Amino acid sequence: MKMFSVILAVIMAYICRCCAEVKSVEPPENVTVSGLGLLGQLVIHWSRPTSLQNVTDCAVRYQLEYFSTYKNEWKGYRTPWTTLRAQFDLERDVQVKLRTMLRGKCTNGIESTSAALELVWHPKLTGVEGSRVKNFSCVFHMKQYMECTWDRGPEEPQHSQRFLYYWHNGLEAVAECPQYLLSSGVRTGCLFPREAVKEFTDFNVCVNGSSPVGPLRPAYFSLQVQNHVKPGLVEAVSLEALQQDGELVLGWKPPAGHIPSHCLEYEVMTEHTNQDGREWRMVNVTEDTSLVLPANQRSCARVRSHVHRYCSDHSFWSNWTQWKCLPVEKDNLSPAMDIALICVLVASAVALLSLCVSVGMFSRTRRQRTEQKVSHCSLLGENQHLKLLSAFSHPHH
Ligand SMILES: *[C@@H]1O[C@H](CO)[C@@H](O)[C@H](O)[C@H]1NC(C)=O
Ligand SMILES: *[C@@H]1O[C@H](CO)[C@@H](O)[C@H](O)[C@H]1NC(C)=O
Ligand SMILES: *[C@@H]1O[C@H](CO)[C@@H](O)[C@H](O)[C@H]1NC(C)=O
Ligand SMILES: *[C@@H]1O[C@H](CO)[C@@H](O)[C@H](O)[C@H]1NC(C)=O
Ligand SMILES: *[C@@H]1O[C@H](CO)[C@@H](O)[C@H](O)[C@H]1NC(C)=O
Ligand SMILES: *[C@@H]1O[C@H](CO)[C@@H](O)[C@H](O)[C@H]1NC(C)=O
Repeated sequence: MKMFSVILAVIMAYICRCCAEVKSVEPPENVTVSGLGLLGQLVIHWSRPTSLQNVTDCAVRYQLEYFSTYKNEWKGYRTPWTTLRAQFDLERDVQVKLRTMLRGKCTNGIESTSAALELVWHPKLTGVEGSRVKNFSCVFHMKQYMECTWDRGPEEPQHSQRFLYYWHNGLEAVAECPQYLLSSGVRTGCLFPREAVKEFTDFNVCVNGSSPVGPLRPAYFSLQVQNHVKPGLVEAVSLEALQQDGELVLGWKPPAGHIPSHCLEYEVMTEHTNQDGREWRMVNVTEDTSLVLPANQRSCARVRSHVHRYCSDHSFWSNWTQWKCLPVEKDNLSPAMDIALICVLVASAVALLSLCVSVGMFSRTRRQRTEQKVSHCSLLGENQHLKLLSAFSHPHH
């Protein structure tokens, strides 16, 4: 028993000699967060824990995690430096977790990590409550110009004036909107020419404002401009029958603008009607600029495009082109147009009938010219009918 405790004591002493070399690792100290006035670019700074101030035989690194409010997830970094710059949403809490990591002779080569230092900074929300803009959204049209728009806040005071400021890493300082969009004299958006935007980097925006009551509640946004692209209309759509196979070929050209054509993907919607009047729709997605379709009694097609996911994470669909149909007659006639056409025809028939009746009654008093009058009337009627039909059967293609 005595023997056993001696051995134990020796083992303990040995372990503790070892332990003595492993410093207890403390988390970093004196953590500060400072803004750079760049609409959400913050610098987090910390210092080496005092207990490790004199350590020279071990490498000190830091593990920093911060909550990205944009991605709604924690992001982590390991760095030997004591500072990190990142993008934060100035309207949300800044949450940071910091650990010290030690490895080297002093830890016998084992990586030793401190407990996490968790810190939260709350935003200082200023300005009239409820005056923050709503529905902020940006569309980068054809990569030619970007349009950002907003709706007024629900509690926006009368006679307010809006401002938009933006920054990206190509700018030294925050800049004001180059051209405001106005709706009955009120600023409802901003137009950025192509030169003012920068892709594949944080494009930071602040929409604030002033009012007789005081400043309005600012709103902060950070976007990746390449994810807001909306292509223009697909051009030169043609639908042609292939004589031999009873197939149709739909062809088109990429939309105008600055989107590389290899970045475009097309969606083709086709509407087919077969002999017994049955209709069905088909949707095809392609990177080509043509598509072979089965020929039917009647086939119509329209095309739209967006940026392929190889080129950006998100894109808006362009507008649809007009329907192209084969055979072309009855082109673009909506049911509303059909009803309008029937109404016009019925009305003109009624008008003609009453005209004929009154002409007939009139002519009865002038018996000698009856034959001539009636034939003139029916001729006039036919002409009008023909004109009406031709006006409706050739809408724009
Ligand atoms: C942290 O800040 C305090 C007070 O400013 C200072 O006394 C201390 O030395 C700092 N610690 C480190 C590790 O720099
Ligand atoms: C580090 O070294 C300085 C000067 O040699 C000494 O004053 C200080 O107490 C040491 N700090 C620690 C934590 O050992
Ligand atoms: C925001 O947009 C939605 C949908 O487009 C609309 O219903 C709502 O009224 C808009 N909000 C404001 C404040 O205009
Ligand atoms: C709006 O924000 C910009 C940029 O941060 C700032 O320079 C300006 O003073 C603000 N204006 C108002 C009215 O709050
Ligand atoms: C797309 O459609 C919208 C709504 O109908 C219209 O305001 C806009 O001008 C169209 N854009 C193009 C490029 O045709
Ligand atoms: C188009 O899509 C339909 C199904 O929606 C499919 O049967 C057809 O083969 C596709 N056509 C082409 C040319 O890819």
